[in-house]
Amino acid sequence: MKKIIIANWKMAPSSLKEAKRIFNEIKKTAIKLSKVKTIICPPFVYLSELGHLMSKWTLNVRLGAQDLFYENPPAGGGAYTGEISAGMLKNLGVKYVIIGHSERRELGESNEVINKKIKTALVSGLKIIFCIGEKERDSEGEYLNFIKDQINEGLKGIPRKLFNPPAGGLIIAYEPVWAIGKKGKNADNPENVFQMSIYIRRALLTVVGGKFSRAIPVVYGGSVEPENAEKLLTDGGMQGFLVGHASLIPKDFNKILTIANKIK
Ligand code: PGA
Repeated sequence: MKKIIIANWKMAPSSLKEAKRIFNEIKKTAIKLSKVKTIICPPFVYLSELGHLMSKWTLNVRLGAQDLFYENPPAGGGAYTGEISAGMLKNLGVKYVIIGHSERRELGESNEVINKKIKTALVSGLKIIFCIGEKERDSEGEYLNFIKDQINEGLKGIPRKLFNPPAGGLIIAYEPVWAIGKKGKNADNPENVFQMSIYIRRALLTVVGGKFSRAIPVVYGGSVEPENAEKLLTDGGMQGFLVGHASLIPKDFNKILTIANKIK
């Protein structure tokens, strides 16, 4: 299976010029790597322009959005000020969408809302990067139940065929919240990440069934940097990464891509 490396630019950079510069620098490396699928998720406002730069790219690079709204009226319009629909994203050539990122959950997004967004995205033919992860780790293991609830409630009532691995409808991004944005010092250690990869697959089993639970890619996010990328991939049992701050520094992100391309 190809490694999946996702760039989550969050609310940056502040100009289109800078977005294009970062994008083009990543592109130069990403298009050469046959064993890595690179998914770049810029802010909504840059998707259109970056989409134009994508047109001649190979299949191993894709554009993703960082969120969407759960209503997607068939006629296209809708009285939802400030929101962005699945249809709008698809028309721009967007293939993936991040749903349930911890920073959105922190702003009040519930498992129920996330569930609606996942349904809308999958029914509309977008592939999703579904983020889960505990805020803190307790010694009694309560955090494991928290993650299981996120999985169960986020994927509740969604027809299994929408997770179909050949179509690659679902990617799980495990991001322990306490490890996010710590500039390398606080990434989870590979042994824990490995245990979580097993736990998540087991939790998925009851929701999506045996066949899909083995095939759905699970990636890790939380302070991934060139320095820790190799160990997290080889010993962590994950299929790739969701990279935040390091994805805005092309030199660092390209190193992560190159490391992922070398690992079997
Ligand atoms: P980080 O962010 O790499 O800066 O920790 C990851 C994320 O929030 O997706």
